[in-house]
Amino acid sequence: MSAPRRYHVVTFGCQMNKADSERMAGILDDLGMVAVEEPDEADLILYNTCTIRDNAEQKVYSYLGKQAKRKQQQPDLTLVVAGCVAQQEGEQLLRRVPEVDLIMGPQHANRLGELLEQVFNGSQVVATEPVHILEDITKPRRESEITAWVNVIYGCNERCTYCVVPNVRGVEQSRYPQDIRREMEELGRQGYREITLLGQNIDAYGRDLPGSTADGRHLHTFTDLLRYVHDVEGIERLRFATSHPRYFTERLIHTCAELPKVCEHFHIPFQSGDNELLKAMGRGYTREKYLRIIDTIRSVMPDASLSADAIVGFPGETEAQFEQTLDLVDRVGFDQLNTAAYSPRPGTPAALWENQLDEETKGDRLQRLNHLVAQKAAERSQRYLGRTELVLVEAQNPKNAAQVMGRTEGNRLTFFEGDFEALRGQIMPVKITETRAFSLTGERLVPAAIA
Ligand code: SAH
Ligand code: SF4
Ligand code: F3S
Repeated sequence: MSAPRRYHVVTFGCQMNKADSERMAGILDDLGMVAVEEPDEADLILYNTCTIRDNAEQKVYSYLGKQAKRKQQQPDLTLVVAGCVAQQEGEQLLRRVPEVDLIMGPQHANRLGELLEQVFNGSQVVATEPVHILEDITKPRRESEITAWVNVIYGCNERCTYCVVPNVRGVEQSRYPQDIRREMEELGRQGYREITLLGQNIDAYGRDLPGSTADGRHLHTFTDLLRYVHDVEGIERLRFATSHPRYFTERLIHTCAELPKVCEHFHIPFQSGDNELLKAMGRGYTREKYLRIIDTIRSVMPDASLSADAIVGFPGETEAQFEQTLDLVDRVGFDQLNTAAYSPRPGTPAALWENQLDEETKGDRLQRLNHLVAQKAAERSQRYLGRTELVLVEAQNPKNAAQVMGRTEGNRLTFFEGDFEALRGQIMPVKITETRAFSLTGERLVPAAIA
């Protein structure tokens, strides 16, 4: 019998892609293939790609170009391009890199097995037509044994004028609450402790499920879903991302405060602090509405940590409008902020507008914003000094074998001395002795009952 095929998966982009990659790796395992660390040792390489900004896409082509060359020497190498670049480029990608065997959009991730069968039968395959995503029957190969992603809604129905996601991820499709809970229960049985529920706009969950009413009241809202799944046995912590300000209700806020397993960390992108720009972006809310959400969160959960995404240099952004973004960041004081310079994307309205800013202005604004973000994050970190935080131990510190690392409920990465094998998956009280902008160091307290 010949040796099993060896595969290597490279993932670019967001958590949705990471979750898809874990499922696709699970499918490859089921086919009897073996994962290898070194791409050059693999017989099958799968790139799960991202096209959110031009630099993300270029990175994919540079990786792919290298393996396409290798394929000229090793014709039995199988090259798969999955994810958002695959969906965006489709057949075009074959013209650019004809060595590719399989191009498959994100909606086809669960079909990897049957698509590969066609490839092994000698076809070059492009799977980018919109499909209803099938409930997954394979077992994902999860990277962690402690924390896991669980998809709850695929796709996006918004039309932000800068964004490719609706083009590449398709329309919203919510999973049934029963299927979500079943997956979570299985994870609980396997010893997982923390689950992050995933969706592009997770708080829009349920609109498409039968039983939802046309007037906007839903039997299955995200709030209902949280109540339905929060008590799964074995799962100690629940997180969710990403939230869209349009759908972030007071009811959701109160529910998060009430349910003990829901971590008090919220990722709610605002994109811009200026109302004119928010309008041009097609975001569907105002700065005031965003600040109201933050105020409500803080009035109910004063210690909640907050993160968001923001774009600088959107077409037409004036210096004064950019300062509105700085002002919003200053007021809110985010624990973390993902920032990006606007990148014109094919197939999006804003890319065609004539009022594009030059790269220098965008770069300058990005730097100024990042500076403020780091300053605010460092201030926010200081509130932890001397406090005792509960840290879920997720891994050994790769830079210091004497330390383990994990996250506080508020999602701050925290290091402390300890033996990973003894502490893995445990939630430990840790006294914080040192703070940095985006991480903490502490000392483990031995719970009185054990000491
Ligand atoms: N659905 C989420 C975000 C998904 S995309 C939301 O609406 O908030 C992740 C982030 O990429 C966005 O929040 C945005 O900040 C950034 N982004 C999207 N398109 C971009 C573009 N063309 N240029 C720069 N950043 C972009
Ligand atoms: Fe993109 Fe807007 Fe959808 Fe977020 S909500 S994925 S930014 S279109
Ligand atoms: Fe990128 Fe696709 Fe996610 S474009 S950010 S991988 S949805």
